[in-house]
Formats: sequence, structure tokens, C-alpha cells
Amino acid sequence: MDKLISLIGLALLVSSAAAPVMAEERPRPGEESWLLFCEGCHRPDAEGPGTVMLQRRFGDERMAIKGNKTLAPEYIRSVVRHGLLEMAPLRQTDITDAELDLLIEFLASE
Ligand code: HEC
Repeated sequence: MDKLISLIGLALLVSSAAAPVMAEERPRPGEESWLLFCEGCHRPDAEGPGTVMLQRRFGDERMAIKGNKTLAPEYIRSVVRHGLLEMAPLRQTDITDAELDLLIEFLASE
């Protein structure tokens, strides 16, 4: 019995340790980068600090960055790489240039 329990424990340990590695897909798809790096602050429902700040500054039309056609790709790239006021920059080790392209494509989609 003890042996069975330790086998189950070992199986759980192995599967939980392996899972995040298996889930990692590179280059990371745009939607995943959005959920990982942006959505927390830029949730479109005006709950995220980024959305709140942009709503205050520019009004309802520009509070969302997802699906916002007025944002030029080069502008988004520059904000992500250099940061903007309270928004911290992301480095190549966080998101590669190819992944940033996928993220920008995702932001432009509906
Ligand atoms: C810690 C919170 C936070 C995170 C995470 C964050 N942002 Fe921001 N972002 C902000 C804030 C706050 C502003 C508004 C800055 C200001 O003007 O005061 C902003 C502004 C922007 C702007 C400028 C929008 C405009 O209309 O000028 C873009 C583009 C942007 N963020 C893109 C992103 C992307 C893409 C990500 C993910 C890679 C991201 N942000 C992650 C907080 C965040």
C-alpha cells in the first residue's frame, strides 16, 4: 500500500513538473502573449489599470488596445519595448520580435 501511494505521488510530481514545459509553444502565439503580458492591465471592461488610465486620458474610443484600429503597429512596438509611464517595457527575453509581431497582429484582429 505504501508503495502504491508513493508511486501515485511520484506520478503526480512528474506530471505536474512536465506540464508547463509541454505547454510552452515558441514562437508564442499572439493571444497567449496578450493573456500573459497585457490583459491584466488592458482588460477591455475598464477594470484594468491600463484601460482606466487610457479612458481618463483619451475617452471611451481609445481605452481598449485590443481591436483598436487607431494604434499603428510601430507605435505599439515602441510602447512595448520602451514602456510608457506606469507601463514597464518588455525585453527580448520576455517576448521576441517575432512574438511581438504576432501579438500586434492579434491586437488588430476583432
Ligand atoms: C502594469 C500594467 C500594464 C501592463 C502589464 C501593460 N500595460 Fe500598456 N499601458 C498601461 C498604462 C497605465 C498605460 C497608459 C499610460 C499613460 O498614458 O498613462 C498603457 C498604455 C499602453 C499603450 C498606449 C495606448 C495609447 O492609446 O496611446 C499601448 C499601445 C499599450 N499600453 C500596449 C500594451 C501591450 C501590448 C501590453 C502587453 C505586452 C501592455 N500594454 C501591458 C499599463 C500596462
